[in-house]
Amino acid sequence: MTEKLILKVLNGEKVASTPVWFMRQAGRYLPEYRKLREKFSNFMDFCKNPEAACEATLQPIRRFNLDAAIIFSDILTIPDAMGLKVEFIPNFGPKFSKKISNIADIEKLIIPDESQLNYVFQAIKLARSELDNKTALIGFSGSPWTLATYMLEGQGSREHRISKAFIYQNKEARELLLEKLTVSITNYLRKQVENGAEIVMIFDSWGGSLAHWNYYKFSLKYMEKIAEQLKNVPVILFSKGAGIWLEEYKNTNARAVGLDWTISLSKARKILGEKLVLQGNLDPSVLLTDKNTIKQEVKRVLADYGNGHRHIFNLGHGISPDVKPENVAIMIDTIREESLQYHL
Ligand code: CP3
Repeated sequence: MTEKLILKVLNGEKVASTPVWFMRQAGRYLPEYRKLREKFSNFMDFCKNPEAACEATLQPIRRFNLDAAIIFSDILTIPDAMGLKVEFIPNFGPKFSKKISNIADIEKLIIPDESQLNYVFQAIKLARSELDNKTALIGFSGSPWTLATYMLEGQGSREHRISKAFIYQNKEARELLLEKLTVSITNYLRKQVENGAEIVMIFDSWGGSLAHWNYYKFSLKYMEKIAEQLKNVPVILFSKGAGIWLEEYKNTNARAVGLDWTISLSKARKILGEKLVLQGNLDPSVLLTDKNTIKQEVKRVLADYGNGHRHIFNLGHGISPDVKPENVAIMIDTIREESLQYHL
């Protein structure tokens, strides 16, 4: 029997309070992260150093009373290993050495073998060996669709015009690209689990950018394929902006769904029933306010979910670098105290 609260929730057991972790919990809002980051001029060199990645993973765990650590890495490790070398340029963001423009480019993409991503598996092994019996380790990947947007745009993008035009026009090419990504991601997550990840999360940061009739077809369908192949592993799916398509999750084989702040948890629960665990969904901007506002908004999220044991507290998206760490502590303490009443 596990003592890890988040695993209990994902396994359908009863718990005494709501577990909590948050997206981008290892990152620039922490002074100790910024100090560690200074040692590397290049962000990917940081990700590729297992000792440094393990240290960044553990930093938020030392500071806060969290139920899970998420391995420090990036979603762009997969395109990098498939042959599109990525660089993170200051004040610009990710940039690839080349981008995909046609089916021939997709045919050239490699399905990564273990050795190319070994640095991630080593970091996971190290981090797991350092964690106690209360804190679970989360592994992750980007979703096929979200990674495809970066590979087709050659860089980050807000509107995904190039990538969406491409998938509308090139049926064979899009299927090959999404299939190749699905295989690469499945292998990657399976290996993360073999090395110590206890939960895996798929970040579909740009699912919400698709037209309504394409969301299942181009994004959720492939995430479900991955979840299906990772049987017995708790999988959390998070599509930013997909609250409007919750009906599509009714038959999902994933264990949990992450929600951003634009949908109410009680409404999501009504649509989905009790089968799926819900993760979310405090607006990260709340952490830029004051103690009273943070407490009030955390209470609002807990009350919105209401009584029950199938909620994991999280932010609706990643924490921003300008948040004060003491505000995070207020959020976590409030969850610990205020969630007790919903677990009687
Ligand atoms: O959550 C965690 O604490 C684990 C680590 C993590 C990072 N990136 C570290 C990181 C995770 C889970 C990610 C996922 C990720 N990376 C996503 C999906 C999550 C989401 O927010 O929807 C996306 C879209 C990326 C791609 C990416 N990586 C971008 C757009 C950037 C920002 C570039 C910039 O210069 O601002 C990154 C870099 C990155 N990844 C940072 C961190 C802490 C900051 C870079 C730094 O420290 O210099």
